[in-house]
Amino acid sequence: MTELLAKTVSVAKQGNILVATVNNPPVNALSHSVRAGLIEAVWTLEDDAEARAMVIVCEGRTFIAGADIHEFKKPMVAPLLGEVIDTLDGATKPIIAAIHGTALGGGLEVALACSYRIALEGSKVGLPEVKLGILPGSGGTVRLPRLAGVEQALAMISEGGQISARDAREKGIVDEVVSGDLKAAAIAFAEKVIADGARLRRTSDLPVPAFDPAILETSRAALAKKYKGFKAPLVAVDLIKMVTETPVAEAIALEYQTCKELLVSPQSKALRHIFAAEREALKIDGVDATVKPRNVSKVAIVGPGTMGRGIAACFLNIGIPVTLIGLTDEGLASAVKAIGKIYEGSVKRGSLSTEEMERRLALLTTTTTYDGIGDVDLVIEAVTEQLDVKKEVFAKLDAVLRDDAIIATNTSFLDIEELAGSSKNPVRVAGMHFFNPANVMKLLENVRAAKTAPDVLATTTALGKRLGKAPVMVGRSEGFVANRMLSKRTREAQFLLEDGATPQQVDRVLTAFGFPIGPFALADLAGMDIMAAARAARVARMSPREQQCNIVDRLVAAGRLGQKSGAGYYVYDENGKASHDPAVDELLDAHRKERGFTARAITDEEILERCLFAMVNEAARILDEGAAARPGDIDVIWTNGFGFPTYLGGPMFYADQVGLPKVKAALDKYAGLVGDQYFKPAALIERLVAEGKGFYG
Ligand code: CAA
Repeated sequence: MTELLAKTVSVAKQGNILVATVNNPPVNALSHSVRAGLIEAVWTLEDDAEARAMVIVCEGRTFIAGADIHEFKKPMVAPLLGEVIDTLDGATKPIIAAIHGTALGGGLEVALACSYRIALEGSKVGLPEVKLGILPGSGGTVRLPRLAGVEQALAMISEGGQISARDAREKGIVDEVVSGDLKAAAIAFAEKVIADGARLRRTSDLPVPAFDPAILETSRAALAKKYKGFKAPLVAVDLIKMVTETPVAEAIALEYQTCKELLVSPQSKALRHIFAAEREALKIDGVDATVKPRNVSKVAIVGPGTMGRGIAACFLNIGIPVTLIGLTDEGLASAVKAIGKIYEGSVKRGSLSTEEMERRLALLTTTTTYDGIGDVDLVIEAVTEQLDVKKEVFAKLDAVLRDDAIIATNTSFLDIEELAGSSKNPVRVAGMHFFNPANVMKLLENVRAAKTAPDVLATTTALGKRLGKAPVMVGRSEGFVANRMLSKRTREAQFLLEDGATPQQVDRVLTAFGFPIGPFALADLAGMDIMAAARAARVARMSPREQQCNIVDRLVAAGRLGQKSGAGYYVYDENGKASHDPAVDELLDAHRKERGFTARAITDEEILERCLFAMVNEAARILDEGAAARPGDIDVIWTNGFGFPTYLGGPMFYADQVGLPKVKAALDKYAGLVGDQYFKPAALIERLVAEGKGFYG
């Protein structure tokens, strides 16, 4: 007998066990129909005298992955999740949650409100709400500590990580881990429960296990440091503390109230925006969603330098064999050593087993010829940034590759059209612009050229996701999107020094805004010689003021190469601690004198506005030119590539929060102060302001 309760939840009976099946693709989110369907399923269980227990199982790729994020913007329609949870918790017959894929957020809360939980090997559970700037609002903070203990619950709720089914079993969150047919295992489990007397086991009846109250304050301090600027992780500590001191019903009401308040907070709006924008970025403008990516199971990388090594590690990490091509055996040997070092570091930190390190390294082969790569699906060239050198590599690749193999360039500023045009087969050419260190940085700027085949674009995007990156498709543009915008911030940071600001003032303002590091401390980290080389590559195309703003060259000439030489914009002690160096004041004074600038007092507001709005203005031009498809893509680039605080939603979202009329007024002001050529508002900003709109409408 199968009765359709609601479109997304159906109930069938197997002997004296009801099986409620949730089917709400793609991730079985708790949309209104699922909430209503689950409640009706419990009613059916209660009304059916023969039924002695119920199993909740999900169709498709996963158990319930949480509340339906798309409903957050609309008024919620009853029944709310709290009612579902109360109904499950109040059931008079045992209910068993059968978990596969991921039981997340409200999904785990549903499972926690059941009497028992069994999980498929390889599945995961978590309360990731904090990543959306909220916290569990339907009993998660109340029930999880009762099963897993306060310390474990606090870690999961304040950081939002997922743990494996096995870990969850060990911590008491799930009762059994099974492999094979989950539904059959859940029914067998239910039969056992019935045979044992159909005992109910309400998590809400359990006491909070004893714990050391000191962990609350230790966690608070650690979270404040690790998640600087984020509100929800700290509220999580307060909430858990409250739960340990408060009766269940009252704690559930207070938890719900807190979640509701967080949901309307600016941080939650910004974090939800980034969540949606990262997924939207996977949809490639002009490429139909039905276009299938090409298979990539074997890769070659040309160029065993810093970028090539990091990129190789990315592929080895996901089990894809890599052939690394270099000019000399020595260069290749040192690349292999460096890649080994990356893994040894992970082994030392305990995040990788020795066996896994060996498995990954065994997937790496090296060669100085192109002969053996006829069977690879993708080649990434990461050789020196010189057009003729890259063109030579392309010609060699064209000679040996299969016709359907993809050539991706890791160039960061060369013309993608010129590179693509140098291949006999331009449809197979695209850009995959990784950021240094490539094995760590999440941003992947995928670049499209005019002739790149749609399935090549689909492949670089899908591959980005497989690599665990945040891929964003961009178009032809000098420096693409990330570095083109960064160059404007760099310019302003330098001009601000000429105008009278100090490196420490600029760094302080930008870190107070939420960047993890200021531009000058970052330059010291990267190395002044690297900064000078990057400047030299672009200097011919710079404005006269920029050309003469050669503070970086002066630092190099003074031997101040940054952290590696013990001094750059700052001076460093033996522990690497930076401090102000009067010698830099003198160097800047000399520069200003020579260039005819008189230092003036610069406000923090001016520093922030010039650095941020110069980028936003450039981004508006990028959008108008079509080099980025959507403002959300730019927000994904900046939050994943340069540490723009996710809780502010990225530069475009932030500009909308400030208000575009205010942004335009500031641009007008700085156009007068610094120069029209640097701050004239972009046409898109003018248009949007005239229409009373923002980047997001
Ligand atoms: N609600 C609605 N749609 C969701 C969703 C959710 N909670 N989670 C994911 N989706 C959608 C995505 O938008 C995407 O849709 P499109 O294909 O249309 O873009 C699709 O599901 C697939 O998502 P992913 O690309 O992320 O797929 P994945 O396989 O890489 O990852 C996942 C799956 C692990 C479930 C991941 O999507 C995820 O982490 N989702 C968010 C989970 C979450 O935060 N849950 C808590 C929500 S808040 C809550 O539950 C508490 C509360 O009551 C307030």
